This record gives sequence, structure tokens and C-alpha cells, in this order.
Amino acid sequence: MIFSHKTIWITGATSGIGKAVALELSNQKVNLILSGRNEEALQKVVSLCEKNGSSALSVPFDLGDEKSVDEAARRVFSKQLKIDALYHFGGISQRSFVSETPVAVDRKIFEVNYFGTIALTKYVLPHMIKNGGGQIAVTSSIVGKFGFPYRSSYSASKQALHGFFESLRAENTKHNIVVSVIIPGRIKTNISVNAVNKDGKTHEKMDAGQDTGMSAEKCAAVICKKLKKEKKEILVGGKELIMVHIRRFLPRLYYYMASRVNPL
Ligand SMILES: NC(=O)c1ccc[n+]([C@@H]2O[C@H](COP(=O)([O-])OP(=O)(O)OC[C@H]3O[C@@H](n4cnc5c(N)ncnc54)[C@H](OP(=O)(O)O)[C@@H]3O)[C@@H](O)[C@H]2O)c1
Repeated sequence: MIFSHKTIWITGATSGIGKAVALELSNQKVNLILSGRNEEALQKVVSLCEKNGSSALSVPFDLGDEKSVDEAARRVFSKQLKIDALYHFGGISQRSFVSETPVAVDRKIFEVNYFGTIALTKYVLPHMIKNGGGQIAVTSSIVGKFGFPYRSSYSASKQALHGFFESLRAENTKHNIVVSVIIPGRIKTNISVNAVNKDGKTHEKMDAGQDTGMSAEKCAAVICKKLKKEKKEILVGGKELIMVHIRRFLPRLYYYMASRVNPL
């Protein structure tokens, strides 16, 4: 995918990895549609992208609210834009044990990470098919590849994305729809601060594991390079990525490690 002059819709653009990807791409004369809930933060990213020579449209919406997703899609389509790519970074993490988490909290995580993400995709996909193709990227996590303590529904929601988007790819390769699943390890963003706890409130802590992670800027550079090459899976992070290979090739070692790991 050559980015220049393409129209790219990015969710999760108000902070962390999504914001860093928007800024990275804005150096390549693209037309960005940027989404997240925080309108003020979104406006700041819009200004930075414009300074870098790209156009940027702010379309705030809540992934956890179907009506809000619907309105955002209508607003974008009313502008008669041709959307070349949709990159999903919007999402929330979790910091709570299965034994103490009410199902309402599990549902909230799924509403944002899974249902909101697939709802927006379902608006954009027919448009891309009609226009002869496009690129869709979704952000999973290394815990989308294996279970991890203190992250049960977060991990489950990310694993669900793999199933959905692999199926979408299988159905739509013939329509020139390219699908990339981004699999970050530990990236230094506010993901743990914004993670939901057993009470459905924000965790409000920068976990030690997060704090020592790869920078969002470096992560974004890797992601953009691999999106350009239309890679089907994009693993990005530090030495923690080894866990993906341990889970696959040495499952007994993974079972041992996962039950003893410090989840913070
Ligand atoms: N950082 C990591 O180590 C890591 C590792 C694996 C996977 N990931 C994934 O990477 C993606 C980006 O996370 P990040 O690390 O950049 O964390 P972040 O800084 O907390 O960013 C999360 C983004 O998602 C948006 N978002 C959250 N809830 C939303 C909602 N209900 N509606 C619309 N937008 C919402 C936030 O915008 P608003 O608050 O403005 O709505 C924000 O822009 C997420 O999908 C995350 O699961 C991150």
C-alpha cells in the first residue's frame, strides 16, 4: 500500500499507538480521518497532522455505543470520501481477576474491543468492495495469541478479533481487501492507566511492564513499515514477543510461566 494521497481512517487516534501512527503517516501527505472519544485530544492530533502537510478530519465517537458508531459512519460517508484504509487502534485493557469481575465489565470490554470494532468495519467494508478494494488493520495483542492472568476478557476480545478478521480476509481476498492483524507486545502508552478494573473503573496506574515497553513512536514506525508491505500479522515490541513462540512451540513451558507470571 502506497500511503501518499490515500484516505485512511484511524481509530484510537487520541493517544498512544493510534496517535503515533497518525503522526507517522501524516508525513506522507495522506488524508486522515481520526477518531476517539476525547474531542480536545483529537483536535490536537488533527493540528499536528495538518502541520506535517496532511489533511485530517476529526470524527469523535464511542466504540462502546452502537448509535455513536452509526452516526460517525454516516458523517464520514456523507462527505463522499473514498476510504482506502481503516486502521483500528481503539481499545481498552483490563486489570482484574476472573473470580472478582462481574459479567457487566466483561461485556464492556467486548463492546469496545470487539463489537465496536466489527461494527465500524461492517460500514466500511462494502464501501471498499464497491471501490475495488482497500486495507483493513486491526490491533490485537500478544495476549490475543494466548491467555494471560488479570486480562481474561481483554485476551478473549483480542482472540475474537483474530477469528473475525481472518474470516473476513478469507471471504474478501477476491475483492482486493487486504487484512493486517497488528500484535503489539508491551508498548509504553496509557493502556494500563486506562484499563478497566473489577469495578468498571479505570486502573489509573502505569504498570512497571508498560513503563519499560517500546515507545509508541518506534512501535508506529514498525507498524507503518509493515502495513506498507501488507503483512498479514505484524508482531511489534521487545523481548516479550518470545511468549508467542513459546505458546506455539513449547506449550508446557507456557502453562508453567503463565501461572507464575507477575501480571503488572
Ligand atoms: N500499549 C500496549 O502495550 C498494547 C499492547 C497490546 C495491544 N495494545 C492495543 O493497542 C491499541 C492502542 O492502545 P494504546 O496502547 O495506544 O492505549 P491508549 O493510549 O490507552 O489508547 C487507546 C485508544 O483507544 C481509544 N478508545 C478507548 N476506548 C474507546 C471507546 N470506548 N471509544 C472510542 N475510542 C476508544 C482511546 O481514545 P479515547 O480515550 O479518546 O476514547 C485511545 O485513543 C489498543 O487496541 C490496545 O488494546 C496495546
